[in-house]
Amino acid sequence: MEPSFLLEVSSPEQTMLCGEIMGKLIPRSSVVGLTGDLGAGKTVFTKGLARGLGIDQEPNSPTFVIMSCYEGSVPLSHFDVYRLSSGAEFEDTGYEEFFYGDGISVVEWADKIRDVLPPNAVIIDIQFPSDVGAESRTIKVEGKEKWLLSFRNTAEQALLASRR
Ligand SMILES: Nc1ncnc2c1ncn2[C@@H]1O[C@H](COP(=O)(O)OP(=O)(O)O)[C@@H](O)[C@H]1O
Ligand SMILES: [Mg+2]
Repeated sequence: MEPSFLLEVSSPEQTMLCGEIMGKLIPRSSVVGLTGDLGAGKTVFTKGLARGLGIDQEPNSPTFVIMSCYEGSVPLSHFDVYRLSSGAEFEDTGYEEFFYGDGISVVEWADKIRDVLPPNAVIIDIQFPSDVGAESRTIKVEGKEKWLLSFRNTAEQALLASRR
């Protein structure tokens, strides 16, 4: 088991804030795998991350696009593998160029391609309550990278401050 911690958020803005803080701290060549059901907030988190990387455009999850690239201080490649039927299909996308390049890669529905995620990937699992419209989320961050310690501290402080 990888070390992990939880961040409790209560609005889309707070999820976005966590993503933004991650975008400011994440080192080049990192891969982030996002898991959690439809509507959890994986794309919201990715928007925040893009903002933290200094990207002006807002990532979204277009229906038939598996990967989109965004240019910032560091390039972001945003994968959404929801529609892929197999990990083998993912191998045809040429993902290695991005995972092992010097930009940041974010993969929504990362559980579908667990086998090809690099061992040092950060896994972010977003859980949400079953009541429709509830805005609380539990963001579980898993990984052994050292920078995650400063991410945890900064995010906890920022969430506390935003609740005041
Ligand atoms: N705390 C929260 N964090 C993220 N999204 C939230 C939160 N509360 C409500 N939402 C809503 O849930 C939806 C999440 O959508 P999205 O990020 O596209 O999910 P996913 O990519 O995981 O399918 C958005 O409509 C957002 O406004
Ligand atoms: Mg999405």
